[in-house]
Amino acid sequence: MVIIGCSHGIHLAKKIALSAKKPYAALAVEKFPDSETHLSFPVSVRGKEVVLVQSFYGCVNDCLVEVFFAAMTAKELGAKKVALVAPYFPYLRQDDRFYSGECVSLEVIARYVDQSFDAIAIMDPHLHREKSLKHIFRIPSSLSTANPLIAAYIKKYIRNAVIFGPDFESYRWAEATAKLIGCESATLRKTRYSSRKVKVALNKKIDLGRSHVVIVDDIISTGHTILETIKLLKGLGAKAITCICVHGIFAEGALGKLQKAGATVVACNTIPNPVAKIDVSTLLASALK
Ligand code: R5P
Repeated sequence: MVIIGCSHGIHLAKKIALSAKKPYAALAVEKFPDSETHLSFPVSVRGKEVVLVQSFYGCVNDCLVEVFFAAMTAKELGAKKVALVAPYFPYLRQDDRFYSGECVSLEVIARYVDQSFDAIAIMDPHLHREKSLKHIFRIPSSLSTANPLIAAYIKKYIRNAVIFGPDFESYRWAEATAKLIGCESATLRKTRYSSRKVKVALNKKIDLGRSHVVIVDDIISTGHTILETIKLLKGLGAKAITCICVHGIFAEGALGKLQKAGATVVACNTIPNPVAKIDVSTLLASALK
């Protein structure tokens, strides 16, 4: 087996290889002046199981093209098997046709993945309407969750934590993490009006007293979901607020906005960013076994 770090997976690929005690190499990727992608394998992949590590953030579509090119190239060069490890996998929220004529993006990407790879491992995929990865991919798939690491972080650094999930789907992270710690949790009701406009509400009265409010969600993208949650919980008397997510995309300056709103922000390192303090590499390495 050889672990290959793709352009947006390098930050984790080396650590995964170390933890799994497997050889590591970085895929050589460059851009032509017209923005076409050029890539090559710096080591022989003939007869090997190749594991591509790629996280899909920033120029998401370029990241996708890169792994499809790399997977087919590895097979042409004689790789025995090609697997994809995706610390953050994109398009999972576009899993339905919400308006007539829309592309169900996840369906398209999943079929490309099926054609290109022999197996896929994803960290905390955003499963909502699709209940399992088996419903999305036809190739063998596996899922790891950062919940135990998030729980360990909270136990170590935060006293009197009360965990809030900002919407129904967040129970997989918020409620599950609260159970691991044995603390109280509550789930908010979110209404999304557009990519940048959401409203959240709490169904029950809650006394935040001297609690440290911890908002846990899988993804922070524009940050509007968490900003609204902070506003609501501050209105209920929250003083200390920490927001923890698995995938810190932090689009459109979201991190600065959340910090300005008075919250401490912590993320896992599925996506590199200044607050990626929770290392998921050992979990991803164990998905390779
Ligand atoms: C969606 O349900 C996810 O769990 C997140 O709550 C959502 O993606 C966050 O998006 P944003 O940060 O743009 O509000």
